[in-house]
Amino acid sequence: MIFSKIKGVGSYLPKKVLTNKDLEKTLDTTDEWITSRTGIKERHIVGSDEQTSDLAFEAAKKAISNADISTEEIDLIIVATTTPDKIFPSIACNVQTKLGIKNCPAFDIQAVCSGFIYGLSIADKFIKTQSAKNILVIGADSMSKITDYTDRSNAILWGDGGGAVILSSSDQQGILSTHIHADGQHEELLHVPNNNIKNKIKQTITMQGSQVFKIAVNTLDKIVDEALEANNLQKKDIDWLVPHQANIRILEATAKKLQMSMDKVIVTIDRHGNTSAASIPLALDEGIISGKIKPGHLILMEAFGGGFTWGSALIRF
Ligand code: ACO
Repeated sequence: MIFSKIKGVGSYLPKKVLTNKDLEKTLDTTDEWITSRTGIKERHIVGSDEQTSDLAFEAAKKAISNADISTEEIDLIIVATTTPDKIFPSIACNVQTKLGIKNCPAFDIQAVCSGFIYGLSIADKFIKTQSAKNILVIGADSMSKITDYTDRSNAILWGDGGGAVILSSSDQQGILSTHIHADGQHEELLHVPNNNIKNKIKQTITMQGSQVFKIAVNTLDKIVDEALEANNLQKKDIDWLVPHQANIRILEATAKKLQMSMDKVIVTIDRHGNTSAASIPLALDEGIISGKIKPGHLILMEAFGGGFTWGSALIRF
């Protein structure tokens, strides 16, 4: 039987750091409000000369090196992003060129904060149908480029970064299952309106935060049950929760549902903010580098985001 297994992980954060104290200088907010309502203390922001493709490329280089494969062995590139450098070409094509890969399919997918789970789910199917052997799956976003820094309810949340994995065919169990969903009916609660395109005014995120919060918590409850039931596993079997990092209170609610101590949750939101499609691979990499996540551990990744989209991946690392 063919399985798909994560062979290497890498991540990258831009150098510039924006702290809550920095935001206090320009917004009617406080470090105390931001920390207690979101868990965020600081976030990384791209410089004026940096693009999402740069974040994706830096993360990809590390994942390839950690997987110990050559770029010639990559036969598909999938990038999850909401903030491509241009409308086209895709970031996946940008990364392909930057890596010097001459001929492999490459495409972007757009599922906002659930994008990395969507990417992993697609890649898993390519491997299990023997359509590819080594796939570079990246989640990268420059959310600062679509953030209105005069809107205190949004400016505090978002950060920039990139994370990548090499997913390879294997005779050992890796991805046990992925589950992806969408429901477009709540568009107005979280979106980037396009009514300013003609005036060339920067398009920025609009969110009804407290309503999104309630739907996210309720949906994540169901995600956990779905992934465990599909694999006949119990809550106690999970070694690590690697969640999308939107709000520490959402992470705490999911951990509670899993009857899991927060010590078993990889938390990066305090230093990264919400980096959208990048947040799960960034957290995964941090979990590995810190020595928490080890080979053989059972990991539940889950995300909820714009669309609405949501999903999970249960993985034997
Ligand atoms: N500083 C101080 N006060 C603030 C700030 C701020 N930065 N932002 C909002 N407030 C005020 C509001 O104006 C409001 O004041 P009022 O009561 O006088 O009207 C009060 O604080 C409460 O506002 P809420 O929006 O109800 O605050 P809440 O506790 O819900 O926190 C937050 C807001 C952090 C946005 C939260 O709702 C949240 O995390 N939502 C979910 C985000 C999410 O999961 N998104 C999906 C993934 S993202 C993606 O896919 C792109």
